Amino acid sequence: MTDQTITLNVAGKDHIVTAAPGRRLSDVLRDDLNLKSVKIGCDAGDCGACTILMDGAQYCACLTPAIQADGRRIETLETAEPKLATRLQDSFLDHGAAQCGICTPGIMMAAMELLREVAQPTEAEVHDALAGVLCRCTGYRKIIQAVMATNTPRIPQKPAAAGCAVGQPLRRVDGRPKVNGTEVFGADYAPEGALLVRAIRGPDYHAEFSFGDLDAWCAGTAGVAAVITAKDIKGINCYGVIPPLADQPALAETKTRYRGEPVALVVGDAAVIEALDLADFPVTWTALPYSTTQADGMAADAPQLHAHRPENTLIRGHVTCGTPDDHLASAAHVAQGAFETSYVEHAYIEPEAGAAWLDGETLCIQACTQAPVMDQEDTAKVLGLPLERVRIIPSAAGGGFGSKLDVTLQPLLGLAVLKTGKPCRMVFTRTESMQSTTKRHPGSMRASIGADAEGRIIAMTFHGDFNTGPYASWGPTVATRVPVHASGPYLTPNYRATSRAVHTNGPSSGAFRGFGVPQAAIMQEVLYDDLAAKCGIDRLAFRHLNALRDGDKTPSGQTLQAVGMVECLEALQPHWDRLSAEVDAFNAGSDSLKRGIGIASCWYGCGNTAMPNPSTIRFGITAEGRAMLHQGATDIGQGSNTVITQIAADALGMAIDAIELVGPDTGLTPDCGKTSASRQTFITGRAALAAGAALKAAILRQTNLSDADEIIAADGALTVKHGNESRIVALKDMAQDAHGYVICVEETYDPPTTTLDANGQGTPYAQYGYGAQLAEVEVDMKLGTTRVRHIIAAHDVGRAINPQLAEGQIEGGIAQGLGLALMEEYLPGQTENLHNYLIPTIGDMPPVTSILIEKPDPEGPMGAKGLGEHVLIPTAPAILNAIRHASGARLTKVPALPHRVLAAIRDAQGRTA
Ligand code: FES
Ligand code: FES
Repeated sequence: MTDQTITLNVAGKDHIVTAAPGRRLSDVLRDDLNLKSVKIGCDAGDCGACTILMDGAQYCACLTPAIQADGRRIETLETAEPKLATRLQDSFLDHGAAQCGICTPGIMMAAMELLREVAQPTEAEVHDALAGVLCRCTGYRKIIQAVMATNTPRIPQKPAAAGCAVGQPLRRVDGRPKVNGTEVFGADYAPEGALLVRAIRGPDYHAEFSFGDLDAWCAGTAGVAAVITAKDIKGINCYGVIPPLADQPALAETKTRYRGEPVALVVGDAAVIEALDLADFPVTWTALPYSTTQADGMAADAPQLHAHRPENTLIRGHVTCGTPDDHLASAAHVAQGAFETSYVEHAYIEPEAGAAWLDGETLCIQACTQAPVMDQEDTAKVLGLPLERVRIIPSAAGGGFGSKLDVTLQPLLGLAVLKTGKPCRMVFTRTESMQSTTKRHPGSMRASIGADAEGRIIAMTFHGDFNTGPYASWGPTVATRVPVHASGPYLTPNYRATSRAVHTNGPSSGAFRGFGVPQAAIMQEVLYDDLAAKCGIDRLAFRHLNALRDGDKTPSGQTLQAVGMVECLEALQPHWDRLSAEVDAFNAGSDSLKRGIGIASCWYGCGNTAMPNPSTIRFGITAEGRAMLHQGATDIGQGSNTVITQIAADALGMAIDAIELVGPDTGLTPDCGKTSASRQTFITGRAALAAGAALKAAILRQTNLSDADEIIAADGALTVKHGNESRIVALKDMAQDAHGYVICVEETYDPPTTTLDANGQGTPYAQYGYGAQLAEVEVDMKLGTTRVRHIIAAHDVGRAINPQLAEGQIEGGIAQGLGLALMEEYLPGQTENLHNYLIPTIGDMPPVTSILIEKPDPEGPMGAKGLGEHVLIPTAPAILNAIRHASGARLTKVPALPHRVLAAIRDAQGRTA
């Protein structure tokens, strides 16, 4: 079949391009016309990130052959009618409707089709119009509000005055590129002449392999510049996020331990490499016995994945206080049970992608990541380069949620560049991404909780086995964090929690919003409903009675302060009372549909567990009078760029709009640590607070003022105002430091924690956040389906630095918690795409009422607490408890798929018959 010449009409201009019959319209738009707002999340019609308008109607460009667009009018976000596009963009910015922004162009194109037909759409109309586009970050609520308000006259947001940024629902400081299609994600940048890299991956869960004649294959395959194997690795072929436990090869050497593990790279001309049939690659596989579940991994005859880790045990975790067994034996009421959770895929819309090149002696890698400094360290180690010869420049990240903390393509890109001497790029397919990146740990948990006759918790025991897959990744963190948190935010004086991370040949499990705490919370909160019933106490009242309060000790022996747990539960009380009455009234008149409400709580320690955890901020003034904030925390959509700038601006006393952001970039920004563990607002925020205060003090030293109400930078000078006084600091003639600043500070904050002793006693975190959520559901008693009708979420954020961003985190976390509860189950070999692996769509997401509780934390910047992971933890158990309230079904495994709900309903009916 020969190429065809076609004409695409884009923004009123005809573009003539050639396309082979099977070529995707998305490729033509991105590669030939440079319309990079057309994003690729799946190349299979499942995610909608590539949505464009063709003759005014929405299409998935990835599923549309380019030749079908011949002569048709094409609109992308860059080229759409500007008046409507601008109104939509402003509405998205005003409502905080774009988080990472990877889905935003596709969502906006779908919205444009609707808004041209219906100026003031209803929520149902927005649902219908946007049904084909997935968003993994926002929970859709702010998107719905933004679309509905697009054609309503808007009141422009006033710029925040000096000292007044914190507490305001300001637009994102980095928002505009997210909504106008110019944000550069990992796949959007290709250096001139870049070669393409593809990985050869193992097809089996566990296999030995050997290569054929690679040189002959390379020489005989036109367009292939290089084949790379582990033999090309000059450094140490072993990386891992926790260096003492590092165990993962960049390229497997003789054996693969999971399905999709890379063994070789093929590098060359992009068109050739893209079209290459890798089935011809000379490699022979010999499948080996394997295990994919934690039960199989622990079996006596299980294949052992690492010789130095007997019984496939990566690590164990342990926290003990008091005498739990004695107190359980003497408890007036005891609830006990077991629960299973599944592998859960992060399902960010952006598969891993990036580019790399040499800048002199320095290897530059621009790729999506949550942890640039860790990427730099691991990549340098694998490549055998000194640290300073590797520069990581994070691209915009189209979601991460924990998985992009681990290196993926960075060392592979580095190997390709060093071998070929040419710039290279690599883009994972959706299937590669799902096969080869980390997942939420599946857990098998059992617990017993005892209460006295008044309903006070007196003891708890817990054990969880977590499937950590073949490599360590964040398994040690999960194994440590879970025992610290498994009591939930409730006073538990006698306690023993143990955990074990078990190696299998499933995908590696790593960090996913909560590090195992969401799984443990399901176990604990389901038992709390059992125990409340045994005690004859209302479920919310039972939690209120036992909630942690200021001065209480955790099972790790830490005395707490600034605990907002009671306030969260009390904020839910009126909703609980109203909905209790409403569901009772509904159920009295309905047999086939039953409604119920459930409640669950969370607590979550912010930052690394019992380890150092510093962030450093540089803040400088140039001779021209520009205020430059170097903040190296990656903003993966959660809003750290904005929140940290708000804090720094107020600490300095300068209007936020006057501050310019630099970074993250290992060549330009100090280390702000990784974006994980809900640490950036707290820890980098504290560093920003200190840096703002230090810069202010440095400026004041140039004046004879004791303080400043406002500092204005302009035209080579600073104007410092305090009361009725004003001073000018001339900058132009001041000496510049090595960074080019005439005044500059650098401040570090490391939260005060201690290591844990053999019983898990110590101070694992300097700060905790708290929350509680109430779910209302409707269960179809014949089909076993569950619809979540409403979530009401109360979260103690200490101080809401940006209330709109905080709400966005809550709504997005709830969407992921809903997926965990009802639909998400990653099955290796079966659900390796977004067609078979289901995540919540706009139609699955209920209204969310967010209640922000502000109980200031003395350790937090201006009282603020972390929030990003807390928000997911209570959602699944609240939904499960609501399903049980509605139907009697007591689930023992998530997701609560209809067949599991039906079986549990039958089980409950059998028990009551
Ligand atoms: S990239 Fe086209 S639908 Fe996902
Ligand atoms: S903002 Fe929608 S996927 Fe990130």
